[in-house]
Order: sequence, then structure tokens, then C-alpha cells
Amino acid sequence: MIIAVDGPVAAGKGTLARRIAAHYGLAYLDTGALYRAVGLKILREGGNPSDPAVALAAAQRVEEIALTDPALRDEATGEAASIVAANTDVRAALLRYQRTFAKRPEGAVLDGRDIGTVVCPDADVKLYVTASAEVRAERRFAELKGKGVETTYAAVLADLLARDARDMGRGAAPLKKAPDAHLLDTSKLDIEAAFKAACHIIDTA
Ligand code: C5P
Repeated sequence: MIIAVDGPVAAGKGTLARRIAAHYGLAYLDTGALYRAVGLKILREGGNPSDPAVALAAAQRVEEIALTDPALRDEATGEAASIVAANTDVRAALLRYQRTFAKRPEGAVLDGRDIGTVVCPDADVKLYVTASAEVRAERRFAELKGKGVETTYAAVLADLLARDARDMGRGAAPLKKAPDAHLLDTSKLDIEAAFKAACHIIDTA
């Protein structure tokens, strides 16, 4: 079984996808971490993520960054990831890795932006997880504060809106709900309620 989980930044899709994978005994891939790894590699080497040649070279050596590296979660890394993700050659280089992962014998859950539309268009179940920009910014702000990062709600909201615009507006595999994806709006749901709603969708699909 392949489950595709897509949605914008800070909608709760990562936490949800991880729990779904554990519950159904499926392998889990956070595809955003792949784009973040490309971004981090470029930042560490002092390169420019907007330079297509630099971005492609980093994507071809993405395995040199551990997908568990804590720096992957930094805001600067997320920003660089969002820039390299608009590059078609980078996307093509990462596509094979993702498709191979999806074919694991035990089945897989992949979360990202284009899993249901591009990476696994034949997934058994597709979820599009979203929430209002304000709710997502509140969650991200609380998370950053918890980590001791100095920022403001307004700055977090502005960053999130910019990231949404870039992810949804790019020509290459833009973030959008697949026509056959189930919409899961978590604006008014905590993680427990969102998980129950997701299981109901999966069990009745
Ligand atoms: O989900 P996360 O915030 O970790 O993703 C970082 C960036 O990687 C996103 O802003 C998006 O531009 C890109 N991404 C993508 N396609 C995916 C997963 C992530 O374009 N499947």
C-alpha cells in the first residue's frame, strides 16, 4: 500500500504521516528532507541555491547529507530548499530516489508537495492536509519559540505566505491537491483528531 500525504508548510502533515506509517506498519519518507538536504549542502559549501548548476550538482550528491542532520530543520535551510525545489533538474534527480522508496515491499507513506500528483500518481490513498495560514503560522511560531528562536508571529506568517506562494506558483510540480486526494483541514483539529480522521479516510478508501 502506498499513501501520499501532501500539503503546505506547517499543516501538520509530517507528524500525521509519521503516525500513519507507524500505525499501518509502512515505511516513511519525508521528501521535504531531500530538498532540505540539497539546500543545506549548498549553504555549507557557500553556494547560491538559485544557481541551477550549483543546485543540480548538490542534488546529484544529496546522499552526502544525513537525513537526520538537525540543521535540516533550520529556517535558512527551508528557504534554500524552497528555492532549489523550483528547479526541474533538481526535481528529476530526486524523483528516482522517491519512486524507489515507494516500491518498498512493506508499502510506504511519503509526504511532500507533489506525491499524489507527480511522484506516486497511482497511490492507494491520497491525503491533502492543510490549515489556514494563520493557524499554520501560530503553530510554527510556537514551535520556534519552544526551540528558543527569536522571531515574531508577523515574521513567521510573512515567511509562510512567501513559501506558499513559491510552492504553489512554480512551474515545476507546483503544490496542488490531486483531483482524487481527500482534503483534510486541520485548522480546528489537534493531532489526535487529525490522526483519527486520516485513519477513517484510509480504512474506508
Ligand atoms: O516540507 P518541508 O518544509 O520540509 O519542505 C521544504 C521545501 O521543499 C518546501 O518548501 C518545498 O518547496 C520543497 N518540497 C517540494 N516537494 C516535495 C517536498 C518538499 O517541492 N515533495
